[in-house]
Amino acid sequence: MLPDHIPLPPPYRIKVVEAIPFLSARERREAIAAAGYNPFHLRADQITVDLLSDSGTGATSTAQEAAAALGDESYAGARSWFRFRDEAADLTGYPHLLPVHQGRAGERILFSNLLGPGRICLSNTHFDTTHANVEMAGAEARDLPCAEAADLDSAEPFKGNIDLTTLEQTLAGPDGPRVGLVLMTITNNGLGAQPVSMANLEAAAAICRRHGIPFFLDAARFAENAWLVRQREEGYQDWTPRQIATRAFQLADGCLISLKKDGLTAIGGLIGLRDADLFERCEANLIATEGFSTYGGLAGHDLERLAQGLREVVDPAYLAARAEQTARFARMINDAGVDTVAPAGIHALYLNAGRLLPHLSPAQFPGHSLGCQLYLDGGIRSAELGSLYLGTLDAENRLVSPAPFELVRLAIPRRVYTEEHFAYVAAVLAGIAKDPERIRGYRIASAPARLRHFKVRLEPLA
Ligand code: F0G
Repeated sequence: MLPDHIPLPPPYRIKVVEAIPFLSARERREAIAAAGYNPFHLRADQITVDLLSDSGTGATSTAQEAAAALGDESYAGARSWFRFRDEAADLTGYPHLLPVHQGRAGERILFSNLLGPGRICLSNTHFDTTHANVEMAGAEARDLPCAEAADLDSAEPFKGNIDLTTLEQTLAGPDGPRVGLVLMTITNNGLGAQPVSMANLEAAAAICRRHGIPFFLDAARFAENAWLVRQREEGYQDWTPRQIATRAFQLADGCLISLKKDGLTAIGGLIGLRDADLFERCEANLIATEGFSTYGGLAGHDLERLAQGLREVVDPAYLAARAEQTARFARMINDAGVDTVAPAGIHALYLNAGRLLPHLSPAQFPGHSLGCQLYLDGGIRSAELGSLYLGTLDAENRLVSPAPFELVRLAIPRRVYTEEHFAYVAAVLAGIAKDPERIRGYRIASAPARLRHFKVRLEPLA
């Protein structure tokens, strides 16, 4: 028997490794300057620890790679599609499934059918590309986070929830007839990786049903949400993560999933639907824009890795180890003197840059400054979630209204980094926290109108 009083290690060992570079301080200074001080423009071979995203960045397993060798690349009706479809149908319970190459392709296809000019999409929080896809469909993306989310330090277990009172009021009010969709993001990536409770999903689903509004999940991290429900919500301790995930899908009319996260693959996505008419309309769009409905932009070997990945991701031993890894990383960072959004979720930690760098105003982009410093000091790549991403700018790219918080996201790729990598990042952060005043602010040199953070270029202030 294994000891039950010590946390178990991850249920895998490393078989193939990839070298990571260590640049000199001078090389890092030159690299980030050449990138216009935007980490998105760095080359991956200039980065020592890459915490930009947990999307498509995970390690696959030997079982996934063995399955991939069996990939059937037939144009239509490939064996690999049926293997993937059966796994996804069993997990989600939806009668109609469409494969897409990644999450945002599913967003575009679904939104072009459910939204349009004058319509509104309500969410606990839209992810950035989701927000952009709602707007590109001509509609308005409106976030209704719960009040608890506003306190970054509280230990409330389900700060990813939607505000049920505002949801009800919006649907019953003058804007109600314009709402085309309610989309619940699990876990809430835009708001600190916080989970959504089953009670909140049930209540939101009931409100939507009463008002006849489609209720969908943006379920990129369905397994991680299920794990946090099992840990934190009364009544679910005897459920498997897979049972909890299936129950969540059951509550909704359909789902969008970016399988680059909890699919444990580099690429892939899924639309799940109950409504046969909506399925037909989405399928026509899919065939015209992504590929035939048995591959949707994916190769047979991708579908094979996905089918296997969907099994591995709900393994309680895997989820327990991953959650524990993130929690330990949070403790290391907090001990280094840097606050993170509490309580720790699973796929990422969110550093409170506004609190760490009070000498920088939001217009000097403290989150961005911290992100650049992580690269300058340690070759670490992160993502800003503050006024650079969410603030409003005037025509001269000066900040007019700041974001509510100045955060930096450290996303944690699945099965990729070890305890030593996290200790290294925490040590670099400790160095910053010892002398935060040395960190300069930035100003925007040029910025595109939409999805600013991907393409913006900046300059350090003197
Ligand atoms: N929804 C959520 C909640 C996401 O986090 C993402 C992607 C998407 C949809 C879009 O999926 O990338 O497959 O097209 N999130 C990544 C991230 C990019 O870094 O958080 P996609």
